[in-house]
Amino acid sequence: MIKRIYFEITQACNLKCRYCFVRKDLSSEILKLEKVIDILEQAKEYQPIITFSGSEPFMYPDLKEVVLYSKGLGLFTEIYTNGTLIDKKNAEFLVINQINNVRISLDGPLKINDYLRGKGSYLKTIKAIKLINFYKKKYSSDLPYVSLSPVISKKNLNSLDFLIKLAKDLKINRVHFLSLIWLNKKLAVFHVKELKRRLNIKDSYAYRLINELEDLDFDQYRKKIKEIKLMAKEYGVLVDFWQSIDRDNFVDYWYSPKINQGNIRRCGYIYDTVRIDQKGTIISCPLIRYPYGSLKKESLKKIWLGPRARFFRKEITKNGLFPICYKCHRVLVE
Ligand SMILES: C[S@@+](CC[C@H](N)C(=O)[O-])C[C@H]1O[C@@H](n2cnc3c(N)ncnc32)[C@H](O)[C@@H]1O
Ligand code: SF4
Repeated sequence: MIKRIYFEITQACNLKCRYCFVRKDLSSEILKLEKVIDILEQAKEYQPIITFSGSEPFMYPDLKEVVLYSKGLGLFTEIYTNGTLIDKKNAEFLVINQINNVRISLDGPLKINDYLRGKGSYLKTIKAIKLINFYKKKYSSDLPYVSLSPVISKKNLNSLDFLIKLAKDLKINRVHFLSLIWLNKKLAVFHVKELKRRLNIKDSYAYRLINELEDLDFDQYRKKIKEIKLMAKEYGVLVDFWQSIDRDNFVDYWYSPKINQGNIRRCGYIYDTVRIDQKGTIISCPLIRYPYGSLKKESLKKIWLGPRARFFRKEITKNGLFPICYKCHRVLVE
């Protein structure tokens, strides 16, 4: 069953966030509007949530058209964005067309956010949120829901409370805290080897995920999350953290270089979530990106039920996750 489709509609981005895991292959062509519409038509029978993401979806020239089409099919339609390209016209568009959810990335106060996400990005993002609020008020609309998605790292751990206050002030519907996806050197080397051995993929991209923001102090992290949860309750702000962060050894396992730590973990992606890259290839997930097939050649249904998708699902359920999976937001811990 397909419950959700993530569309990486473009790999172009106007920012260069320090930790960004997205591959930016700007040499390859993007899907034409007609093809995106065709894919949405094929998706319709499953009634999935459609998420337009990317790199930065507002860099896709026909974003408004594809979003409108998706809404026209009656699909829950959302956009993940850095917000910096939402001007008055875009903000009004999002409200008038009742886009369901706009998830905006923001990592902390001006100085920290701009260190992580680029100079000037904080003010532009805040302006975007205010513009959306302005039009929501003007048209007496509850939509779009606006959520914030900060990535927690060593750099902003101590300014997460700022984001709760901000969310209250700006009437943000929810704050989804994301955890940093990164690898240390040892894990990156291991991951690259595992990709070759198990999937016959030669891919050294994992080395790009080694970064200076890694290695949070577990205890400090846990303590902070507890504080933030309490504070959010007090402020009446809805928050969520990926995974069940309260589990005793959860953070240890997440941030530790060790591979196996006892819990049963499984992929929460492969059975109900389709990911489509900018060239129209269905890939396993954002981190491993095992290609299932091209929508330029085959139908959504055929690829989803096809041999490569089945092989990947079987491989990961039978032989276990890959090193990068342990940082993924969609890994389920039991
Ligand atoms: C890849 S971006 C695409 C949408 C848009 N450009 C944005 O920044 O929101 C989607 C989300 O992934 C987050 N992200 C990027 N790199 C990450 C990493 N290494 N670990 C965790 N989250 C990351 C971004 O901060 C953003 O919230
Ligand atoms: S704005 Fe989004 S896609 Fe662009 S660099 Fe930042 S996290 Fe990556």
